[in-house]
Amino acid sequence: MKGIILAGGRGTRLHPLTLSVSKQLLPVHDKPMIYYPLSVLMLANIRDILIISTPHDLGAFQDLLGDGSRLGINLTYAPQTEPRGIAEALIIGADHIGADDVALILGDNIFHGPGFGEVLQHHVRDLSGCVLFGYRVPDPERYGVARADDRGQIVSLEEKPARPRSNMAVTGLYLYENDVVEIARKLRPSARGELEITDVNQVYVERRSAVLVDLGRGFAWLDTGTHNSLTDASHYMQLMEQRQGIRVACIEEVALNMGFIDAGACHRLGEKLGSSGYGQYVMRIAAQTPQLLTATP
Ligand code: DAU
Repeated sequence: MKGIILAGGRGTRLHPLTLSVSKQLLPVHDKPMIYYPLSVLMLANIRDILIISTPHDLGAFQDLLGDGSRLGINLTYAPQTEPRGIAEALIIGADHIGADDVALILGDNIFHGPGFGEVLQHHVRDLSGCVLFGYRVPDPERYGVARADDRGQIVSLEEKPARPRSNMAVTGLYLYENDVVEIARKLRPSARGELEITDVNQVYVERRSAVLVDLGRGFAWLDTGTHNSLTDASHYMQLMEQRQGIRVACIEEVALNMGFIDAGACHRLGEKLGSSGYGQYVMRIAAQTPQLLTATP
């Protein structure tokens, strides 16, 4: 399966923060926002990932993440010249997807919960049609909203409905079979002039091949759309670190745990991060794995 991170848009709701910096590069506690969706794809065991952003911001993402080889993954980049809709990512990414299935994730979506990697890997392996991930929210009218039957089959889907039929928001992580490229290519812009991801998902709903995975209680899907929610997300990550001593979405740690790099390589990545607490964490994680003994003389 291939991965795509969509990290464009204008970020107007976060002005002036995003006047000269891409939203998805803003800090969420100790790391740039894009580390969170990147680690989700890595946890799903996806190693071939396309990052899409504005022509203006793409270089900054490249400076940050490079070709991915230091993490044992392959990162490539493509521009979206105008924010013409989330579904356009599937058209821009058509060559990257090739004959494979694809996981699309929005660069501003933050997921954190126990066993998420295994859940993702299971759905990647068993994929048929599309898989969406639902999360109960008190304000569903701000999101795509899904209703599913008791087997998880989606029976209705609406984008930002005035009167939501459920409180289950559709999160910004989508798993699709390869035919999604054809579906995206046939879309027409919506009333607001965008190629809507909900219209793509609707095709699978009509085919009765759209599955909803309820992320459930105890899982965190964090909003980063406003100044307050962005600060809240930082506080959440700070709390996890202070209380449990763990760092969420530490891409070096994920690469090590997934077997993409060995402990020696992980240690060297930590060293390069200098004296920051994050860098020390990466070195500590590397030192805790026995492979380091064999990887360094
Ligand atoms: O976050 C989940 C929600 O994302 C879903 O529940 C909705 O169904 C889905 O439409 C989307 O809603 P948003 O209102 O959050 O979409 P927004 O236009 O804010 O775009 C989400 C992110 O994608 C944002 O960081 C900007 C980026 N983006 C968006 C568009 C339309 C792009 O990079 N390019 C685009 O063309």
